[in-house]
Amino acid sequence: MPSPTGFFRQQHELVCDGVPLAAIAAAEGTPVYVYSAAVLRDRYRAIDEAFRGYPHAIHYALKANSTLAVARLLRELGSAADANSIWEIEIARRAGFQPQDIVFTGVGKSPAELECAVALGVKAINVESAGELARIEAIASRLGTVARVAVRVNPDIDAKSHPHISTGLNINKFGLPLDRATELFDTIRKRPVLKLVAVHLHVGSQITSLEPLRHSAAAASELSTALLSEGFPLEYVDVGGGLGIAYDDRQPPAIEEYIAAVVAEVRGTNLPIVVEPGRAVAGPAGALLARVTDIKPRGADTEFAIIDAGMTELIRPALYNAYHRIEPVTARAAHERLYEIVGPVCESSDVVGRDRRLPQLEVGDLVAIRDTGAYGAVMASNYNRRPLPPEVLVDNGSWRVIRRRQTVDDQLSLES
Ligand SMILES: Cc1ncc(COP(=O)(O)O)c(C=O)c1O
Repeated sequence: MPSPTGFFRQQHELVCDGVPLAAIAAAEGTPVYVYSAAVLRDRYRAIDEAFRGYPHAIHYALKANSTLAVARLLRELGSAADANSIWEIEIARRAGFQPQDIVFTGVGKSPAELECAVALGVKAINVESAGELARIEAIASRLGTVARVAVRVNPDIDAKSHPHISTGLNINKFGLPLDRATELFDTIRKRPVLKLVAVHLHVGSQITSLEPLRHSAAAASELSTALLSEGFPLEYVDVGGGLGIAYDDRQPPAIEEYIAAVVAEVRGTNLPIVVEPGRAVAGPAGALLARVTDIKPRGADTEFAIIDAGMTELIRPALYNAYHRIEPVTARAAHERLYEIVGPVCESSDVVGRDRRLPQLEVGDLVAIRDTGAYGAVMASNYNRRPLPPEVLVDNGSWRVIRRRQTVDDQLSLES
């Protein structure tokens, strides 16, 4: 039987791909992010194989986790990249992605970002507005090149995710409604320096039901078919990312089910499919380790457990009220107690886990905050002058630091 991968218990100890998390915390200190290379590979391959031979490209969304070693690992598996800034494009390039493997998304791309993307000749700039298209056109004319563009259409589909991570409603800032997008298609047709290579839809993140994803793929497909019949040289259909993961007991659609639904909707176009998964690849591959630094009473039968990781290391709970499982790294037979698990940051919203029932904790205990491989380390900040935490990659039974802990000197090196 193959040995299990990811985070699981060996007797009482939580391990990552067989490596005890307690050993990593002892060597590197806490807080520390730990990633499983095996889970990253498994999740990537599951998406890849779910296409069952249908032509496709997986553009891993770097915004979820762009640590160089993670980006490289995915590139080595055959991944392409979805970048959201020129800095993510630069990371992608240093990780070995070629310009033709990069799609460039994002609201409010600056002139410098557009200049860089047009000059590089990325696979597509996903255009968000008429103004942005005009700016791309001006740059392409000046550089004497043809800019490859996709238009991001906002289909007014409710992803039924958290409002802060839903992007496909007309009230959201992303993309253009269909009537406005049509004006852009007309402009592109008339401009020899612009080439429309795809339509792009992305309706949100942490989507836990199939319907919005299917509906969005159907809308992308229908629009692509219409554009093909009008003679646009479309090369693929970009259905974005967004598939959710199981942060709690609720199960999102399985990867196979999701991809099968997308393929079923897009197949009629005969175009390859581009998907941009971030969370579905990296989320389950990470855990944030923290130590209990203090315990104090909160009410009659609940206590605060203060840990050395908070909203500076993992902002999702404070920002979106997101739920992450929290568990002791060493299981101990103790009575359960009710805890408010909070970080050390000087904000009342610095709560990592509300009302959690855990075996009695003691100062010095190590806890693991699960499913933090995506939108974890990338969203860390220096608030309270807290250093960015280190990141560790466990691969094939051994582990290494892929990003060291920031120091105060690192911070001050930017100041005068
Ligand atoms: C355009 C685009 N593509 C892909 C993603 C990745 O989404 P997820 O991590 O939910 O798969 C995002 C994130 O919201 C996005 O904005």
